Amino acid sequence: MSANGNSKMESIRKMDREHLVYSWKAQRGVNPVIMDRAEGIYQWDVDGKQYIDFASGLLCVNIGHGNKHVLGAMKAQMDKLCYTGTMFGSEPKAELARMISEVTPGDLDYVFFTNGGAEAVENAIKAARMYTGRHKIYSRWRGYHGATAGAITLTGDPRRWAAEPGIPGVVHYFGPYPYHDPFGTVDDPEECGRRTLEVLRTQIMLDGPHTIAAIFLEPIVGTNGIIIPPKSYIQGLRKLCDEHGILMVSDEVMAGWGRSGEWFGINNFDVIPDIITTAKGLTSAYVPLGAMIWSKKIWDHFQDHPFVGGLTYGGHALACAAGIANIEVYKNDGLIDNSRVLGQHFSKKLQEVMDKHPSVGDVRNQGLWGCIELTSDKETHAPLAGFADSKRNVAGELLKRMAEMGLTTFAKWDYIFMAPPLCIDKDQLDESVAIIDKALEYTDSLL
Ligand SMILES: Cc1ncc(COP(=O)(O)O)c(C=O)c1O
Repeated sequence: MSANGNSKMESIRKMDREHLVYSWKAQRGVNPVIMDRAEGIYQWDVDGKQYIDFASGLLCVNIGHGNKHVLGAMKAQMDKLCYTGTMFGSEPKAELARMISEVTPGDLDYVFFTNGGAEAVENAIKAARMYTGRHKIYSRWRGYHGATAGAITLTGDPRRWAAEPGIPGVVHYFGPYPYHDPFGTVDDPEECGRRTLEVLRTQIMLDGPHTIAAIFLEPIVGTNGIIIPPKSYIQGLRKLCDEHGILMVSDEVMAGWGRSGEWFGINNFDVIPDIITTAKGLTSAYVPLGAMIWSKKIWDHFQDHPFVGGLTYGGHALACAAGIANIEVYKNDGLIDNSRVLGQHFSKKLQEVMDKHPSVGDVRNQGLWGCIELTSDKETHAPLAGFADSKRNVAGELLKRMAEMGLTTFAKWDYIFMAPPLCIDKDQLDESVAIIDKALEYTDSLL
């Protein structure tokens, strides 16, 4: 308690609510828990309450909080050089680019640094247009690519609406979503993928393939419900791009860095894209850093054509030092393997949750990246909260109950997201799923 009798939480929250603007929300009614410190999979609020961070911040603190190896590397770099102009080289920048090229698929060996995910997407839009000389950019409904002008236009969910009309030349297509297939198949991922691809093929034919620079995709859709396509779909999409000289851009801002049990989400499909965009787990959010990564053919093109793009903080030495140390942690602590192996146990636990709760319609996960999709009817897959919370704020109430039990995560509409730091162990995972299981008594009670 402070001298005026308020808890620390209350006094900081008062300041917060008098001056801070929060993202995506009407400001009235915002009532944040004020966090103080974090370590491993846990964070503590200013009043000392402990929470399991089951969303890794915002699906970015992949190695876990407070990692001493990363903090040490950052402190050493700070004493030497925090930043130099983008016209100069630096060892951290060169070394991180080399280390990234070692873990990316195929010949994706050429790195342009940004400050975050949306900027990586903006630069990939530019690069694709400059490389192909074409202007259209395809991106999928129910995809999210960031909140800046181009990235939000690519986004295929309600977050785009306020930014419309957005940048010209963006065209949306349907990707496979077996649980709510836009083309009418029921729970048959392969058939859903086949039909979806066929519709896309027709759309491209009618739209003029020679006008399309790139198809953007989240290899596994992130914030719209961890939607996992069949392998045959992603492979078919790669072929379609090759047939028409269209670039394939894999947005790995969320899917990358072990989240899906592989270094990059696209590795789950044995496909090599032309460009990767990434951020989040690249530094596990110890400091902001993103990247656009080119394959050799793009790199070759820009040997004699200028890449017209740049950012003051691109390749920030301190951020790159954090990135280097992060990749060392992923490797030395076996975190990518932990995500894959523990991900199989996670699948079983989620299946149990689905079998038990009438309000759980579907569960999906790849590695330590999962989603529970709520329903009001297991047979018809009818929503519970409704698209864009059109019916009621189920997620808000669920999150409140989980926080009371000591777990924070990210939830919206009918989706409960689960993405713990990849250093989590089996017991901690079981404890976390047990809390979510208990909170679901609330959604069951709504039926
Ligand atoms: C797939 C994807 N792309 C792009 C972004 C935007 O990244 P940032 O918020 O770092 O700009 C996000 C953020 O969640 C994302 O999930």
